[in-house]
Amino acid sequence: MRKPIIVGNWKMNKNNAETKAFFEAVDGVAASENATYGIGCPFTDLRTALDHAKNLVVAAENCHFEDSGAFTGEVSVPMLEEMGVKYCIIGHSERREMFGDTDETVNKKAKRLIKAGITPILCVGETEADYDAGNSEKVIREELAGSLADLCPKCVGEMVIAYEPIWAIGTGKSASVEIAENCCKIVRDQVKAMYGEEAAEKVCIQYGGSVKPNNIVEYMAQPDIDGALIGGASLKEDSFTEIIEKTK
Ligand code: PGA
Repeated sequence: MRKPIIVGNWKMNKNNAETKAFFEAVDGVAASENATYGIGCPFTDLRTALDHAKNLVVAAENCHFEDSGAFTGEVSVPMLEEMGVKYCIIGHSERREMFGDTDETVNKKAKRLIKAGITPILCVGETEADYDAGNSEKVIREELAGSLADLCPKCVGEMVIAYEPIWAIGTGKSASVEIAENCCKIVRDQVKAMYGEEAAEKVCIQYGGSVKPNNIVEYMAQPDIDGALIGGASLKEDSFTEIIEKTK
């Protein structure tokens, strides 16, 4: 039985004061035995988030795969580990599109995180052009083939994979429940093809892309959707609280 996991992705939003206020308002609501709730926040907010999180789990939004060295502006996995971070988003489409992340670097990040005992939340998803051309399945399978290469079946079973169609991110144009379920099922099938039935049954698969309080319940009701990665609706205390209350 997979435990659902719903994680907010703040992207480049909120300072420390805002982080503290958010956690003071929302953390108490996130106490649940049935689901895990969390927030991915900027590196500069991680300390404040971790200090105020009793129920919410805290995720970094990126990491570097090397432990140290001449990588100006980057943050390594051991640095996150030292802080007590337990989750890290990798391969978000914004990082793939704007900051040069590739399946190869995402794969290196996944390997380093797993070694540190930090759970990767690995994002995949097709562009609007790929969607229109009917290439969603091909893109999902290719991204997973590269990003999940050379891992162990047990490690993959313990990961979180987020399917996020790029055309649905921040657009308000969420994928239909059928599309979301179908693509999350493709993710699970690709995990099965690479790492076997047990890993595929265990791995938590999130849908992401314009998830809101008014559509979260129908996504969560799908057999292959085990959670959500939520951008815009995770920024407001009231909408993220509503999402938690509707799913816990
Ligand atoms: P959105 O973002 O919920 O604002 O569409 C999702 C994401 O980028 O993870």
